[in-house]
Amino acid sequence: MAEPTLYQTSDRNLALELVRVTEAAALAASRWMGRGKKNEADGAAVEAMRRAFDQIDIEGTVVIGEGEMDEAPMLYIGEKVGRGGLKMDIAVDPLEGTTLTAKGAANACAVVALAENGNFLHAPDVYMDKIAVGGGLPPGVVDLDAPTRENLKNLALAKKVDIADLVVCILDRDRHAELIAHCREAGARIMLISDGDVAGVIATSQPESGVDMYMGWGGAPEGVLSAAALRCIGGQMQGRLLYENDEQMRRARDMGVSDPHHKYTAEEMAKGNVIFAATGVTGGPMLKGVRRIPDGAYTHSMVMRSKSGTVRYIEAYHNLVTKNWTAT
Ligand code: FBP
Repeated sequence: MAEPTLYQTSDRNLALELVRVTEAAALAASRWMGRGKKNEADGAAVEAMRRAFDQIDIEGTVVIGEGEMDEAPMLYIGEKVGRGGLKMDIAVDPLEGTTLTAKGAANACAVVALAENGNFLHAPDVYMDKIAVGGGLPPGVVDLDAPTRENLKNLALAKKVDIADLVVCILDRDRHAELIAHCREAGARIMLISDGDVAGVIATSQPESGVDMYMGWGGAPEGVLSAAALRCIGGQMQGRLLYENDEQMRRARDMGVSDPHHKYTAEEMAKGNVIFAATGVTGGPMLKGVRRIPDGAYTHSMVMRSKSGTVRYIEAYHNLVTKNWTAT
């Protein structure tokens, strides 16, 4: 008998189960908000997420995680999670925005994506050159290899606006000086973010964000998570892995990347049916942060499935006394 697939089983329930995983990570990380300790915040999120996975009926394999087995104690690449069931690929970023959390700055969140076995790009921890736009636009309206001015011109035409109406979200890094200059010369406006490009990419698909395009180099694991999100919410994305040395390229090949310079689409990075969930740690335009009250906390999450395209927001109140919450 053929094995059940993600969508023959209770995938809708699984999506909701997944929110518990990101909620747990966000609650744990939020204890470290503004305390200047990004590693501790990350560690708390990882541990809480790892524990929460144990309650889910899947046979998950971490393909995007905290690093190689010898680098990370938990949620390392290849680690099995879940208490048995459907075989799934898992992509995690228990704390997307460690520095944001340490500073108490906006936009940190806990992120997870699921796909059927073999459907996520096994991206090493290198940079990825990324470009993304929202849904409802002609296929190929922007291209990673096209000049910035041309991408802006085509996007403006497709959106029936002037280039000056467009906002490009870019990570505020020295390496993006030229990209920023090109956007400005072409007349576009720019939203520089200090960290957190998963939210930056998702913003392109949320009209209320005011962001029309995301561009620049960010983490490759975050690129796969962003692609998973866009597969659910709509939008186009391209990404290409970047290597600082031969060792990084070797790692990519070891992880199954056959063409190290391939330009991936969102559909190639996150194939098939995908589920994506995120919970805010510190508040931002996408999600509210964790709000603590005596003996309890509120969380705000989003969960979405590529199959239905439904984007569900979940506000939860957590009674931390009955939960016997021990995370510090
Ligand atoms: P962390 O959560 O690991 O701190 O990553 C945050 C982040 O801003 C990502 O969103 C982004 O992809 C990456 O770092 C960019 O890397 P860098 O800080 O090296 O430019």
